[in-house]
Amino acid sequence: MKPNISVLGTGYLGVTHAAGLAEMGFDVIGVDVDAAKVARLARGEVPFHEPGLDDLVRTHTESGRLRFTTDHSEAAAFADVHFLSVGTPQSADGEAADLRYVDAAIDMLAPHLNRPCLVVGKSTVPVGTAARLTDRLTALAPAGHTVELAWNPEFLREGHAVADTIAPDRIVVGVGSDVAEKLLREVYADILERGTPFLVTDLATAELVKVAANSFLATKISFINAMAEVCEAAGADVTTLARALGHDARIGHRFLHAGVGFGGGCLPKDVRAFRARARELGGEGAAALLGEVDSINVRARARTLDLVRDSLGGEPAGHRIAVLGAAFKPGTDDVRDSPALAVATAVARAGAEVTVYDPMVRSAGAAACPGLTFSGSLEAAVTDADLVLLLTEWEEFRMADPRLLAAWVRTPRLVDGRNALDHQAWAAAGWSVRAPGRAPVAGQPSRDGAA
Ligand code: UDX
Repeated sequence: MKPNISVLGTGYLGVTHAAGLAEMGFDVIGVDVDAAKVARLARGEVPFHEPGLDDLVRTHTESGRLRFTTDHSEAAAFADVHFLSVGTPQSADGEAADLRYVDAAIDMLAPHLNRPCLVVGKSTVPVGTAARLTDRLTALAPAGHTVELAWNPEFLREGHAVADTIAPDRIVVGVGSDVAEKLLREVYADILERGTPFLVTDLATAELVKVAANSFLATKISFINAMAEVCEAAGADVTTLARALGHDARIGHRFLHAGVGFGGGCLPKDVRAFRARARELGGEGAAALLGEVDSINVRARARTLDLVRDSLGGEPAGHRIAVLGAAFKPGTDDVRDSPALAVATAVARAGAEVTVYDPMVRSAGAAACPGLTFSGSLEAAVTDADLVLLLTEWEEFRMADPRLLAAWVRTPRLVDGRNALDHQAWAAAGWSVRAPGRAPVAGQPSRDGAA
């Protein structure tokens, strides 16, 4: 008999995990305190964009293998394994993680746990949280010490969440007993059968793996963005530098794209929370390193605004600027801590008239992004622009014909904040081009006089 599963928290991670486990043949119940969200999910509707997830949720809500509830007692009665996948945002008053949702989930579930079961944390938490939650669980659960806690971090990427859940590159579990390990091996049996690495460790190491992984990725991006600063000063080219570095298999090409920096719901807040926790633990080296990674990333946004000024030969005030991209990366409609929106807002604050176009983000709320107008097409956004600023490297922008765009704008000036476009092709179409870590490229007058 397969164990029954509950998943607490139906955000990005929770819904994907719940649907992924239903796909692997488990009976799953998703639990959330948000009744409206639960009602939508129960109808098979996913409240955010993630390729393939709609189909998976619809298939399994219809098959009855996946259901949703607001009732923790129902989940406690049903499930043998409870996954905890609530959010751990940055605190309002500092860098540390805000653990109120994790604590609340335990407090709501534990009083209903009156038989042996396993609670498995998936949320990204500061190291030491699992040990604290173990005490809380055993104190609150009627079944006491027969309720165990394990930690099983999640490494899914937005835009690839379904594939990352069904075919992850590794599974890490922090467990306190053989029983917990055995149960988790059952849950992931299909994945393990394919030879996926399964790393069994203690709670603290499992918690750390996640924040260390995200911090390493962030460090790689900030490293190349720091190189971009040096390249600009030295007249060198950061994209060629990165390509040359990446051929060294020990370094690799991925996460070495210089640009406006990292954003999203994970990397920025995880770097900050890890820094805060490292400092608490006396890990001064890690704290200093992560502090620098964060500052370089924040600076990458400010430096993009400087490129806009350089390109215009003065302040943006009074200019019409087309911003291409709002999502924190292509393939998603997520704008959490989006570098694109941050830079677009800064440009608007500097007095420019800013029109944003993103293939998937059609508005971002006037309160969050004052001064931005969203447009429904690339053509409408760039028409009569004094400068085009690329901030999210969607395929539509990579594929755009620079000659066509040159005919739409008032002045063919491009700031490629992601180093995503072919600058020679754009220059040949008449565009002057600026980009982080690269020398300016002057537009070549078109032979047919179009630009
Ligand atoms: C990340 C981790 O990759 C994933 O393992 C973890 O579970 C959650 O956090 P995600 O937030 O989906 O996933 O985004 P990711 O693809 O890692 O990109 C993060 C940010 O870095 C984006 O803003 C992206 O544009 C930026 N980035 C990425 C760069 O600026 N340069 C690069 O070379 C790579």
